[in-house]
Amino acid sequence: MLAHSAVRALSANSRAFSSSVARQTKVAVLGAGGGIGQPLSLLLKTDPLVTSLSLYDIRGAPGVAADVSHVDAHSEVNGYPADKLDEALDGVQVVVIPAGVPRKPGMTRDDLFNTNASIVRDLAAAIGRVAPTAHILVISNPVNSTVPIVASTLQKAGVYNPARLFGVTTLDVVRAARFTAGIAGVKPADTPITVVGGHSGATIVPLLSQNAHGKAITGDIYKALVHRIQFGGDEVVKAKDGAGSATLSMAYAGAKFTNSLLRGLNGEKGVITPTFVESPLYKDQGIDFFSSNVELGVNGVEKIYPLGPLSAEEEKLMEACLPELKKNIEKGKAFVESS
Ligand code: NAD
Ligand code: LMR
Repeated sequence: MLAHSAVRALSANSRAFSSSVARQTKVAVLGAGGGIGQPLSLLLKTDPLVTSLSLYDIRGAPGVAADVSHVDAHSEVNGYPADKLDEALDGVQVVVIPAGVPRKPGMTRDDLFNTNASIVRDLAAAIGRVAPTAHILVISNPVNSTVPIVASTLQKAGVYNPARLFGVTTLDVVRAARFTAGIAGVKPADTPITVVGGHSGATIVPLLSQNAHGKAITGDIYKALVHRIQFGGDEVVKAKDGAGSATLSMAYAGAKFTNSLLRGLNGEKGVITPTFVESPLYKDQGIDFFSSNVELGVNGVEKIYPLGPLSAEEEKLMEACLPELKKNIEKGKAFVESS
């Protein structure tokens, strides 16, 4: 049900625009056999802006590709086993990375660092070698560290372009809209909430005061809402009880962000959404990566927007966010330096 309505929403989103463009867009999913990778591949198969889909995983990608390829959308789909990473990346313009291990109850995202850092580094090195101009969308956690890992790896290879690297924080935006709408008794379309910072606990900062419905939420209900947005991932990890973390809502969010990027790459104007990118906003405090509203365009990152007016509560949330985010980013960079 979720996948079906998501597919319709995404298709409707891009149909009007796709009829006027002829651009061929080859998209790769690295980690396509996993809990996120499978539904994400299905949703991307139905995106009219995707003309070719390359599905790669160390386990199971050819099977997922055979399955997804029967869906009656125009794109072609190919699956690649563990030893065919270079072939999977050949000619791709966009690479989405959900490869890596998910959390179990009691773990933080940072606890995934030891396993996922090297997975992401090695995939980034291959992208730098085979598809150095591809746009890279990082889903693998901890995003606050894996994005700097990709940047440093590409920098080492001499092919880093900050306009083409994105940490996918869309699930926080999706949650913020849904949870706020639930409290306000309106539709999520009426509660678009800008979420800034990073993607873990206190680094997730929802700017509820910038939406009329969000601004009207105060006191204990406001506090509970902020906590739910910041720790929505834990809610799913707990409910799945050892079977992993968010996969379906993440696939929806990943496909939604990919569609936004493709619309921008195709020349659509005014595509603006929060994403974790190399950002000037807090560079003077030693924080090189930050999520805020970003306009996506033909080159990827077109414009990074400042935060805008913050409430006193949001100023406090930012105070908690910045030191933790800085640590996460430095950890990612140090990992590549010592590799
Ligand atoms: P999963 O275990 O179900 O799937 C991960 C897949 O990655 C597996 O199929 C595995 O074989 C594959 N993989 C492992 N090493 C690989 C490699 N070197 N190359 C290619 N594929 C490889 O996990 P999942 O639930 O799909 O989660 C994946 C990641 O996404 C986790 O790190 C999770 O924390 C993260 N995540 C991020 C967000 C977000 O908002 N950014 C949301 C949910 C989950
Ligand atoms: C999420 O926000 O759901 C993901 O980052 C997965 C997790 O570990 O919580």
